[in-house]
Amino acid sequence: MPYPEIRPRRLRRNAAVRRLVSETRVAPAELVVPMFVKEGLTEPRAVASLPGVLQHSRDSLRKAAVEAVQAGVGGIMLFGVPAERDETGSGGLDPAGILNVAIRDVIAEVGDSTVVMSDLCLDEFTSHGHCGLLTPDGGVDNDATLTAYAQMAVAQADAGVHVVGPSGMMDGQVGVVRRALDAAGHQDVSVLAYAAKYASAFFGPFRDAVESALDGDRRAYQQDPANLRESLREVELDVAEGADMVMVKPALPYLDVVSAVRAAVDVPVAAYQVSGEYAMVEAAAANGWIDRERTMLETLTSIRRAGAQIILTYWAVEAAQMLRERY
Ligand code: PBG
Repeated sequence: MPYPEIRPRRLRRNAAVRRLVSETRVAPAELVVPMFVKEGLTEPRAVASLPGVLQHSRDSLRKAAVEAVQAGVGGIMLFGVPAERDETGSGGLDPAGILNVAIRDVIAEVGDSTVVMSDLCLDEFTSHGHCGLLTPDGGVDNDATLTAYAQMAVAQADAGVHVVGPSGMMDGQVGVVRRALDAAGHQDVSVLAYAAKYASAFFGPFRDAVESALDGDRRAYQQDPANLRESLREVELDVAEGADMVMVKPALPYLDVVSAVRAAVDVPVAAYQVSGEYAMVEAAAANGWIDRERTMLETLTSIRRAGAQIILTYWAVEAAQMLRERY
């Protein structure tokens, strides 16, 4: 008998056979691009710690949204950077606040040709940088924050957004947002719950992008990176409160969580490849230490393989263009 009898390498011998047996493909329609818009800008501005990512002006955001649609991305997630912040984050609730204005702009430009989403959180709008309202002793007041999130959700839905993404990790946030949307006649607006969101160091460059003033950390509301089962409980609660989709965040350091969440629920599961994940690859590639495009696609494939069917990534537009040529 010749040895070895069984040769897995046969299915790897050339690109055609590898393509035939590939178990995981990433489609442009599964990618969502986060975009930042800053109040008062006339020209877009680079974000130093996120090479290739811009703080948009209202005008450049509209153009970027059109380009994203042309590239075939599945969605756009909008973040606002206000000119002024206050204790209560009132700019997030104000229909004339930058995020709500930007939602109107983008919807006017792209309509229903892609899914327009908005971050539903106060941290971009508060002077202290926390995701909610503060108690007199400096903690984050869960239930007072829920009232603000409910109003913020309605303001975003009034502006025409298709999906709201509550990302503040307050208890009960999905339920309160769902009820407020329904009571305001926005039954068709979906909730993408940032269900399992960790208190992660990988959010660093994002805080530059939104110019967050946060002094301290979010460990009293975001999850401990050490915990997996706690994520399943968060996801279960969010689905029970009416989440249409759930998200795990960050992505690459938490693939075990993505996989466990996928197994636990039947709603669509998203993963957010966050700013620090992107910045690490960009920085290493800029130094010539890794191959940028191969690494980008390998990370996206791995997140997809772990069970995320939607991926938020700062590479979405570029990756969508590359993937369209590939398949
Ligand atoms: C909260 C929010 C954050 C991110 C997305 N939504 C920051 C945080 O929770 O500290 C981080 C995204 C990234 O790092 O790319 N508004």
